[in-house]
Amino acid sequence: MSMDIIKLGGSIITNKEGKFEFRKETAERLAMEIKEALEKEKGKKLIIIHGGGSFGHAAANEFGIKDALGAAKVKKAMHELNLHVLEALTSAGLPAITFQPSMVFEAEKGKIKKANLNYIKAALDANCIPVLYGDVFINKQGFSIVSGDDMAYFLGKALKAENVFFAANVDGVFDGKGRLIKEVNAKNHKDVLGFIRRSKKDVTGGMRKKVEAMLKISKVGINVAIVNGSRENELKNAILGKEIRGTTFCFG
Ligand code: IPE
Repeated sequence: MSMDIIKLGGSIITNKEGKFEFRKETAERLAMEIKEALEKEKGKKLIIIHGGGSFGHAAANEFGIKDALGAAKVKKAMHELNLHVLEALTSAGLPAITFQPSMVFEAEKGKIKKANLNYIKAALDANCIPVLYGDVFINKQGFSIVSGDDMAYFLGKALKAENVFFAANVDGVFDGKGRLIKEVNAKNHKDVLGFIRRSKKDVTGGMRKKVEAMLKISKVGINVAIVNGSRENELKNAILGKEIRGTTFCFG
């Protein structure tokens, strides 16, 4: 059984210039692309994880997660975004079922420590598509946020995913001269990290943290690719194993 993970980045499913703006049309198109790909690749298992974009990140910047009310508001923003995503996925005919991430993982200071994946495994066996998202976690040390990218690593490794696709609104990673880097590998990965700056706006560390997560995933032998979800059929082609324009990570 082959299983892929799709991370729908906040940059593609929300308008990050605005606040609490869901990109309905884009999400619906991506959901249709996923559906069409699955129709061709019968039996393929899928987990979908989405980011926070102008819901989670905006809420975290506005309310913070220092106290319980702030944490509650950030969780609510993610809950709202998740409902929009679920609506798009199920309307396209995908059996998407949300697993509230803080009920699946235990995390400390933004890092996943433990997980109970039994229910997710049962859902995959029952042909469901588990949906998770970057979320606020609570433990004795306080509140912290775990990005969907780290969940992709944890789930990809634990459930032996074949591919992890990061759908974003860019083609991939660019070098200092603005040229797309087609492949990140053992030879060039240090240089690549040097090209990316940390983002102040994203509470989970922006592009640099994302690329670090992608490297980590690819180092455990999983194919990783950044897929430009703004380009029609790019995500569909990626799932179908066709050539795409974006950056791929190859450490295998
Ligand atoms: C962020 O998740 C979750 C919260 C801010 C609560 P991600 O880090 O996965 O989100 P994106 O993809 O960068 O928007």
